[in-house]
Amino acid sequence: MDCFNSMVAGQDLEVPIINSKHIRYVNLDNAASTPPFKIVLDKINEFSGVYSNVHRGSGLKSYISTNVYQKAREIVASFVGADLNDKAVIFAKNTTEAINRLSNIFCFKDDDVVIASQMEHHSNDLPWRKKAVIKYVNITGNGELDIEHFNNLVNKHKGDLKLVTITGASNVTGYINPIHEIAKITHNAGAKLLVDASQLIPHREINIKSVNDIEHIDFIVFTAHKLYAPFGVGVLIGPRDFFNAAEPDHTGGGTAKIVTLDNVYWGDTPERNEAGTPNVIGAVALATAISFMQRLGMRNIEKHEVKLTQYLINCLKRLKNIKIYGETGDDYYKRLGVVSFNIENMPHGLVAAILSYEYGIGVRSGCFCAHPYVLKLLNIDKIGFEKYKNQVLNRDKSQVPGMVRVSLGLYNTIADIDRLLNALDNIVEGNYFGTYMLNRKDGSYAPKNCDFNECDFFTFGNETVREK
Ligand code: ALA
Repeated sequence: MDCFNSMVAGQDLEVPIINSKHIRYVNLDNAASTPPFKIVLDKINEFSGVYSNVHRGSGLKSYISTNVYQKAREIVASFVGADLNDKAVIFAKNTTEAINRLSNIFCFKDDDVVIASQMEHHSNDLPWRKKAVIKYVNITGNGELDIEHFNNLVNKHKGDLKLVTITGASNVTGYINPIHEIAKITHNAGAKLLVDASQLIPHREINIKSVNDIEHIDFIVFTAHKLYAPFGVGVLIGPRDFFNAAEPDHTGGGTAKIVTLDNVYWGDTPERNEAGTPNVIGAVALATAISFMQRLGMRNIEKHEVKLTQYLINCLKRLKNIKIYGETGDDYYKRLGVVSFNIENMPHGLVAAILSYEYGIGVRSGCFCAHPYVLKLLNIDKIGFEKYKNQVLNRDKSQVPGMVRVSLGLYNTIADIDRLLNALDNIVEGNYFGTYMLNRKDGSYAPKNCDFNECDFFTFGNETVREK
């Protein structure tokens, strides 16, 4: 299935590396964002010719755009098995905005409880703080969700528990949570479940199931920029009744049926929840990417990525002086190709810089906007934490804890992983050419006398009129 590679933009990008020539860029940072599918670029180019605002015009372009926007909702709904008779697909900017919007719409009383987990991305943690009493499910020694602790928390807060909000898969360890088991426990306690599916959905088939099924998912959020369509759209799906019964959090054009100077009659969801001109092109991009992935087959994508993940982890385990965080057992279907590790006695930022400047490999290093989880996996205690906290608050990130993260996409290949392994093989032996300088303010490293220029790859800001 290595042929997925040609379907994604930028796969033949050549970048300079120090002490050598140019080399094909290998992107292993897909948990952060994915490049677009070429078919997505073609489709939004084609759609641009008929694009107009939705609902509010009477011209043909507006008519087409309105229908296309509606069709995009249907495609998105079908991707997660949502029935549009009882679920609304609301377009937002990204996952973070979708969760913030839901947290604003949700009505909490003073003692109401929200359960999240210690492995959440900040986007599925911070928006709930101050809205309700928040309780965190513990993490086991190997980085998994402690289901026993989850059960205990649910039983303890039954009655006050309104919402459980859990990531579908970790953006740090790639660990996949048992979302339907969690749904059952949540519903038995009379609460609702939100799944942050931004990491899971590009890699696994998800079915939110019918509301009559105790294992159903009430709310789900995800983003297009991790689904090969990075054009500014995120998704919030939830019960129509829920949204229609609540005040919209953003108000303005498109949200109301009738407005007088002293009254507003809100429209129905999803329009009620999409104030202002929507991102129709972004929705078209997302729906195109989804249709394409459905055609490729989510099971084929899963199989391909499992094969890559197994290869990656098995080879990483054989390298000396590397510590991989989280579960690394044999069940590669239970985890994603998101692998975080450290090399003994080497700052994570330095390893990431060497991979970039000497091998043309893009990864991410740091705490991945999941500080509590990363600190726990790194076993950093309160005293250690105070030291880093004071440094960071004083604008010094030179010793900030973290990890190096490799994250696979459907277009990666065994050859990409071999490039990484070859690089790590050298790095663990201390073999690298550059003299790296630390930027204390942001904790990043760059080689001395490095003169890479982004204008060699992409120029903009001086566009000229093209001759006919
Ligand atoms: N949430 C994205 C990541 O983990 C940005 O890198």
